[in-house]
Amino acid sequence: MKVVVIYDAGSDEWSPQDVAAVVENVREVREVLRARGHEVDLVPVKLGDFRWLTRCRKADLVFNLCEGINGHARYEDFVLGALELTGTPFTGPRAWPITVCHRKHVANTLLAAEGLPVPAFVLAQGNKIPANFPLPAIVKPSAEDASVGIDSGAVCTSRRALRSRVSQMLEHFEEVLVQEYVAGRELNVGFVGSTMLPISEIDFSRMPEGSWPIVTYAAKWSPDHPEYAGTEPVCPARLPADVARKVGRIARQAWQFLGNQEGYGRVDMRLTDQGQPYVIEVNPCPDLSRDAGLARMARAHGWAYDELIMQIVDEALGRSQKTDAAAALVALPPRVTTPELPT
Ligand SMILES: Nc1ncnc2c1ncn2[C@@H]1O[C@H](COP(=O)(O)OP(=O)(O)O)[C@@H](O)[C@H]1O
Ligand SMILES: [Mg+2]
Repeated sequence: MKVVVIYDAGSDEWSPQDVAAVVENVREVREVLRARGHEVDLVPVKLGDFRWLTRCRKADLVFNLCEGINGHARYEDFVLGALELTGTPFTGPRAWPITVCHRKHVANTLLAAEGLPVPAFVLAQGNKIPANFPLPAIVKPSAEDASVGIDSGAVCTSRRALRSRVSQMLEHFEEVLVQEYVAGRELNVGFVGSTMLPISEIDFSRMPEGSWPIVTYAAKWSPDHPEYAGTEPVCPARLPADVARKVGRIARQAWQFLGNQEGYGRVDMRLTDQGQPYVIEVNPCPDLSRDAGLARMARAHGWAYDELIMQIVDEALGRSQKTDAAAALVALPPRVTTPELPT
């Protein structure tokens, strides 16, 4: 099979570390596919140059590692939209879950309307936060991921701190979300298609004194920072069976509702001391690196990294066959043509 791996070509502003993070995962995936005998082409996606699409259309499958264009995540769904429009099979979720989940207030509104437990939230535009909004509250950018904009100052315990944090964040981010802070444990639930992987937990017990038990930017990306050691993933999470079932059920509902159980994803959750799970966010296409959360959950499930990648490939191929079959079923007879619109 001929597989094209797509990825963001990056920009001049990228640091050598940014480039290395993308390239390393692209190579990891290429090696897995090559080892299985597939022909693999690496294709960077650029703005204003559509040769990437032409190359993708010649492939049997596109392996999507493109998290945006020039580092702008908002283009990721356009890339997938182009692949969908041209009927090119690709791994991971479709464009719409990416569009929805990239804006946390939109995703939260939909999840809450579906009856899923979502902590109270409000979009902070114009700094209009209801006077009775529950505290503590966490302030986060609505359209970012990977803990961008989150440090220990993100959790506010007073109205004054909240107002000041929101103003500060609005200087850097267009849309800022204020959300009720959920104390308790942090859990991640991964999915490949409809397969749920073992639940993972972030162990905050070694978090430095004075830091909130949250996954800050430093905790995620700075191995030398004390918050990094203070956010240790444990998979499988040690949970009573009934709690694990409840968490799993809610995570699956969220993944079904926002991701249609297609591709792969990770649902981030918090669990109160009273055993009530809350959905914090749904991540379609989470980090697929060998040392990232999804690969860890897959290992706990019995899938080595190669197996995870091939499961993702199989899920994408299965989906594209179903789409082809459905298209054939509803295909219009050739004589029917769209009437010309009056000019
Ligand atoms: N409502 C909340 N209550 C408690 N902690 C939260 C809440 N929202 C976010 N966090 C903390 O902030 C981290 C990042 O927030 P998240 O919404 O998952 O954004 P990102 O897309 O950056 O991962 C979470 O992993 C969690 O530790
Ligand atoms: Mg998250």
